[in-house]
Amino acid sequence: MIRSDFPILKREFRNQPLIYLDSAATTQKPQQVIDAISHYYAYYNANVHRAAHVLAAEATQGLEDARSRVQSWLKAAHTSEIVFTRGTTESINLVAQTLANTDWLSPGDDIVLTELEHHSNIVPWQMLAQRTGATLKAIKVRPDGDLDLDDLEDIIGPKTKVLSCIHVSNALGTVNPIEKLIARAKEVGALTMIDGAQAALHQDLNVQLLDCDFYCFSGHKLFGPTGIGVLYGKQAWLEKLPPWQGGGEMIEHVSLTQSTYQQPPYKFEAGTPNIAGAVGLGAALDYLQAQDRCKLNAHEDQLVQTAANRLAQMPGVKLIGEPAVRSSVISFAIQGAHPHDVGTLLDQQGVAVRTGHHCAMPLMEALGIPGTIRASFSYYSNEEDVERLLQAVDKAMTFL
Ligand code: ALA
Repeated sequence: MIRSDFPILKREFRNQPLIYLDSAATTQKPQQVIDAISHYYAYYNANVHRAAHVLAAEATQGLEDARSRVQSWLKAAHTSEIVFTRGTTESINLVAQTLANTDWLSPGDDIVLTELEHHSNIVPWQMLAQRTGATLKAIKVRPDGDLDLDDLEDIIGPKTKVLSCIHVSNALGTVNPIEKLIARAKEVGALTMIDGAQAALHQDLNVQLLDCDFYCFSGHKLFGPTGIGVLYGKQAWLEKLPPWQGGGEMIEHVSLTQSTYQQPPYKFEAGTPNIAGAVGLGAALDYLQAQDRCKLNAHEDQLVQTAANRLAQMPGVKLIGEPAVRSSVISFAIQGAHPHDVGTLLDQQGVAVRTGHHCAMPLMEALGIPGTIRASFSYYSNEEDVERLLQAVDKAMTFL
């Protein structure tokens, strides 16, 4: 459908098309995004917000247009609620580290995560817990890859001050019932943060309806460049949090002894921003807005379902996680084989997958496995990708 827009997908490996099934790690980029970035550098590269010249005005416009596109993608109420960061990891660190400089958390309070989290939604909260004396808790995962919500009202209780949860699991593809989790967290007055790294491409997002306090994602997982990401924060929260990094752009007035700060989002954007990255992200969102995403989601879901069903039927193959609602990702294991060895055998056949713990070691521990083989799909994936994956797994098993 949209495959021809992605030049990298024409690459071959040993005279066969290279099969890219690692889109959960990063998506490939359409020509439109590549062109937007190179057009920026070729025609209007300048620093933003600073100089009184035409190039600076155009670069500033490019950055701010991208912010408006993100606002509309997330259906946020204001552009001032969109902070540009380097990615999901930086967005979560920004919130966790600035919260440490408020009185939001005290010893004895709880920070609640889930066992499905990526390390980037665990480690920043561990650091916050160490600084504040708060306690980390996690909602358990069931063997099928869905969260066990039977004790939700006990885990998220009066002591809970923060709930931070992944929207879609990067390791298993589980789509979490974040509406339910956010609603419970709000009942007890907890701050809510959603890691949307794997969700922002496929889900139809509306942060006002979700009513979460923070939502974040990375540009490179929805056809944009690396090094640019987004932190959405409710206006009231962004005003309440103190600045994070100090420097140019985030100040209003500086003397040698003290400074006053800009309003959000600029308060959190110290230094020269990733202007080309923002322009590329804006182009990616434009590209996506111009597609029939319902059709693309249905196409991708069909491929994922077919691949999962057929893998499950192969003797010696075990799906890891069979969540009620799955998005884009299939994790599996081959009896008696280490995931890395399988990954190498697939790579030798020109099939690119990710193997290992997928930056989710606590999840692997909860499931009692060292890691998985992960095939992850996107809108540009096709039937040939599925066939070649199945053939390569079949052949790999003859070597193991
Ligand atoms: N979080 C990315 C992945 O799951 C890098 O591969």
